[in-house]
Amino acid sequence: MTIAIFSFIIAFLSVQAFGLINPILPGWNPDPSILRVGSDYFIATSTFEYFPGHPIYHSTDLVTWTLIGHGLNRPSQLSLFGTPSDAGIWAPALRYHAPTQMFYLSSTARYAYTAEYRLFPRSFYVTTKNIFANSWSDPIYFDALGYDTDIFWDTNGDVYSTWSGINNAVDKIYTPSPSLISGIGGAGPEHRSTIQRGPSPSGPWESNPKNPILFNGPDLSLPVQDTGHSDLVEGPDGSWWGVALGVRPQNGDFNHQQLGRETFLFPVTWENGWPVFNGGNPLSEHIEGVLQDKSPLVAYLNDFTSHTLDLAFYFLRTPYKAFHSLTARPGYLRLNANSFALGDRDSPALLLRKQTSYEETFETELDFAAPTNLTEAGVTIFYSDLLHNDLGIVGDGDGGRQIVTRTNVQGVQVGPWALVYTNSTITTVAYHPLTTASGPIRFKIVGNSTSYSLGYAEGSSTEFIFPTKIDSVLLSVPPVGGFFFKGAAFGVYNTGNGKPSLAPADFAYWKQTPAL
Ligand SMILES: *[C@@H]1O[C@H](CO)[C@@H](O)[C@H](O)[C@H]1NC(C)=O
Ligand SMILES: *[C@@H]1O[C@H](CO)[C@@H](O)[C@H](O)[C@H]1NC(C)=O
Ligand SMILES: *[C@@H]1O[C@H](CO)[C@@H](O)[C@H](O)[C@H]1NC(C)=O
Repeated sequence: MTIAIFSFIIAFLSVQAFGLINPILPGWNPDPSILRVGSDYFIATSTFEYFPGHPIYHSTDLVTWTLIGHGLNRPSQLSLFGTPSDAGIWAPALRYHAPTQMFYLSSTARYAYTAEYRLFPRSFYVTTKNIFANSWSDPIYFDALGYDTDIFWDTNGDVYSTWSGINNAVDKIYTPSPSLISGIGGAGPEHRSTIQRGPSPSGPWESNPKNPILFNGPDLSLPVQDTGHSDLVEGPDGSWWGVALGVRPQNGDFNHQQLGRETFLFPVTWENGWPVFNGGNPLSEHIEGVLQDKSPLVAYLNDFTSHTLDLAFYFLRTPYKAFHSLTARPGYLRLNANSFALGDRDSPALLLRKQTSYEETFETELDFAAPTNLTEAGVTIFYSDLLHNDLGIVGDGDGGRQIVTRTNVQGVQVGPWALVYTNSTITTVAYHPLTTASGPIRFKIVGNSTSYSLGYAEGSSTEFIFPTKIDSVLLSVPPVGGFFFKGAAFGVYNTGNGKPSLAPADFAYWKQTPAL
C-alpha cells in the first residue's frame, strides 16, 4: 500500500513544475558538515545565537532532507544567555566512529566574541548512539583553543582533532599542535575551498595544483556567491558528493542577501587522486545531467492543534524557562511575555522560523489584550537584536490598544563589496489607531527580493493595511568590523518592554508561503 501511494506521488510530481535542486536546505544553514552511515545521510549546520543549536537533517537520496533534531537542545549543553549576535554556535563537524557505533558532533560556542572583544574559544564535542533520538551528551571540551574543529580516526585507532585558530603548543606539557595550513580562504565573495593531501596526519602536506577547487568569486554575476566551507561524502554506490555554503544575492546585488548562507550539494569526481567539485564548474542552483530539480517549496501551515511545536522553531538565545504553550488555550500558540524586548541582548519571548525563499509571505492571527502601554505582542521579520522590523499590538496608555510599528536598523556606509553598517542603531517607532476595541487582529509580512511589507487587518476585514515597508538591505549588510552569518526569520513575540508582563498573547495559526 505504501509503495502504491509513493509511486502515485512520484507520477504526480513528474508533471509538476520543478524548482531548483539547490540550495538543498533552503533558508540560512551555514557551514554544512555531511556524514553517511549505511544508506542514511546526515547534515549538521550552524545556528549562532539561536537555540536549539546545530540542526541535524536526514536524507536517503541527498535531495529531500528532513529535520530530525538538534545536537544541542538542553541548557546544560548550550547556555546562550547574553551571547552577542552571530557569536554562539559555529561550524560543526558530524562524524561516526564505526567500531563503537557512536556519532560525534564537534562544535564551538563563541560566548565571548564581539568586534572589540575576541577570545579564542574552547571547542567541544557531544556524542550519541542514536542520532534519531534527538538526545546528545553534555559537551566534552577540548583543551586546545580554536574553532571549526573536526575529528579524525586513523586506521590504527589514533584520533586527531583539527581546528582553525592559534598554535596551542606549549613546551612538552601539551601535545604539540602543528599548523597544517595557513593563510588561505577569505570571506564574502573571496570565500573558497582548497585541498591539501599528505601521507600521514603530520604531513608533509601537498597543495592541489588546481586549488581553489570551489570558488565562484571570479564571476560576481553568478547567482551563487561566497562559496566555501565544504565537506565530502561517499555514497553506498561509490559515488562522491560534496556540500558547501553559498549565498544568493538578489538581482546580482550583494546588498540583498537576506536569506543568508544556505547549504548546496554538488557531485564530486576524482582525477589523479584529487577531488574535482561539480565537474570543475562553479556551484549552481541546477545540476544539469546529474540530478533532476525537485518540486517547488510548499506552504507551511500550522494551526496549533498539535501539543508540541515542530523542530523548525527557534528561540533567540536559551530561554530561561518555557514561555510558550500549546495546551493553555487549545488550538492556539500561547506566548507568555517576559520583560525583555526584541532589541535587548537577552532572551525575549520570541519564537522564530527561518525564511526559506526570497518571495515569501508570513501570516498569523493574534488575540491580545494590551493592559498597559508597555505590554506589546506581534510579528517580526528578524535578523538579530540589532536588526528587526516589528508590527504589533500595544496599549495606548488609556485602557485601549493600538498598532505599533518598529524598525530597528543600523546606519550603512559603503564597504569593500557592498554596504556595511556604521555602529549607530536607528530605531523608528510609529503608532496607528485601531477601530476595534477587542478581538483578534491578523498580521502579514510580505517579502520579495528587495523589500518587506508589514500589514494588519482587523475583524473580518480582508483588506490588509501596510503601514511599514522596508528595504531588505537592512537585513543583509554586515556590521563594521563585525559579523553577518545568519539570515532572516519570521517571528512572533510578547514583551513587557522592560517590565514583567502577565498578558498572554495567543496566536491562532502560522502560515508561511514561499514562492519557489
Ligand atoms: C506610558 O505611559 C506612562 C504613564 O502615562 C508615560 O509616562 C509613558 O511615557 C508612556 N510610554 C509610552 C512608550 O508611551
Ligand atoms: C562608533 O561610535 C563611536 C562613538 O560614537 C565613534 O567614535 C566611532 O568612530 C564609531 N565607529 C564607527 C566604525 O562608526
Ligand atoms: C517588492 O515589493 C515592493 C512593495 O510592494 C515593490 O515596491 C517592489 O517593486 C517589489 N520588488 C520587486 C523586485 O518585485
